[in-house]
Amino acid sequence: MISENPYVPIMANLVEVVEETPTIKTLVLEPDEPMPFKAGQFVQLTLPGVGEGPFTPSSDPLAPERIAITVLKTGMLTDRLHECKAGEALGLRGPFGKGYPVDKLDDKEVLVVGGGVGLAPLRALIYALLGRLERVKRVSIKYGARCVAELLYARQHQEWAGHDKVDFACTIDRPEPGWDGNTGVVTTLLKGLDIDRGNAMVFVCGPSVMLKFATYELMSESFSADQIYLSMNRRMSCGMGKCGRCNIGPYYLCKDGPDMKYSLIKDYPNVF
Ligand SMILES: Cc1cc2nc3c(=O)[nH]c(=O)nc-3n(C[C@H](O)[C@H](O)[C@H](O)COP(=O)(O)OP(=O)(O)OC[C@H]3O[C@@H](n4cnc5c(N)ncnc54)[C@H](O)[C@@H]3O)c2cc1C
Ligand code: FES
Repeated sequence: MISENPYVPIMANLVEVVEETPTIKTLVLEPDEPMPFKAGQFVQLTLPGVGEGPFTPSSDPLAPERIAITVLKTGMLTDRLHECKAGEALGLRGPFGKGYPVDKLDDKEVLVVGGGVGLAPLRALIYALLGRLERVKRVSIKYGARCVAELLYARQHQEWAGHDKVDFACTIDRPEPGWDGNTGVVTTLLKGLDIDRGNAMVFVCGPSVMLKFATYELMSESFSADQIYLSMNRRMSCGMGKCGRCNIGPYYLCKDGPDMKYSLIKDYPNVF
């Protein structure tokens, strides 16, 4: 629900801070007013006196009374967000964007591909899919992080893999002592997948370079541009298609995205 003046944030109480990795924390917020959201929609998160930035909730859309936002420390705003403590008040505007087309995934094979903190928006999709697992054919999750310490939501990986219709694989970039799992970037997990190409939808979220090489790998693996949704990460301001900061060709990523079918954007410059 957008408040009457969409530029005025709803205040939210920070009830928990989870240290996920050395560079990533999850802030759990209880908004003062209901703020239902769909998986993949984003919010503008305000730290009063500091600024605001776009973040996609990583929590279960069916439990909007506690909204989790997973934040990679990367600059001024996110450094300060990492210093926040339970009990502080933050602001939320939104939700913005279309969100993932979860209701179009019935009977589909769903491939979820995440890199680094890109697993955060995808976790909301994973929750949404787990909530309707009887309707989808299968969910395959492929995730890559730089190193073991940076594996996001490590405590949930086994739980996801434990569902009958879910398969989960992760990889770290380079071998490390004590790690006997996959090594190499996440695209190495996309080769020769046992997935019915005619009946699959793919959702990719991660840094630009990962989006680019994952897309090329998926295309070479015979997925079509129409089957691939990319989470497009651009600087955003208004979130409502008014400031013109986030467009690719005719599309405003804040309104038409942020997840876009590759077929719609692939012919415009600077997609990645
Ligand atoms: C729709 C959307 C959803 C997002 N969801 C998440 C999320 O769930 N978790 C998360 O950690 N981050 C997310 N981001 C990115 C997040 O908004 C930025 O990292 C944050 O605003 C950076 O603010 P800063 O002041 O800390 O860094 P700045 O000092 O502004 O920037 C630090 C570095 O990050 C780069 N950067 C900053 N903003 C962006 C951006 N939007 N896209 C690409 N590079 C950027 C800058 O070029 C610079 O190199 C999302 C972005 C969008 C557009
Ligand atoms: S963020 Fe303003 S138009 Fe998209």
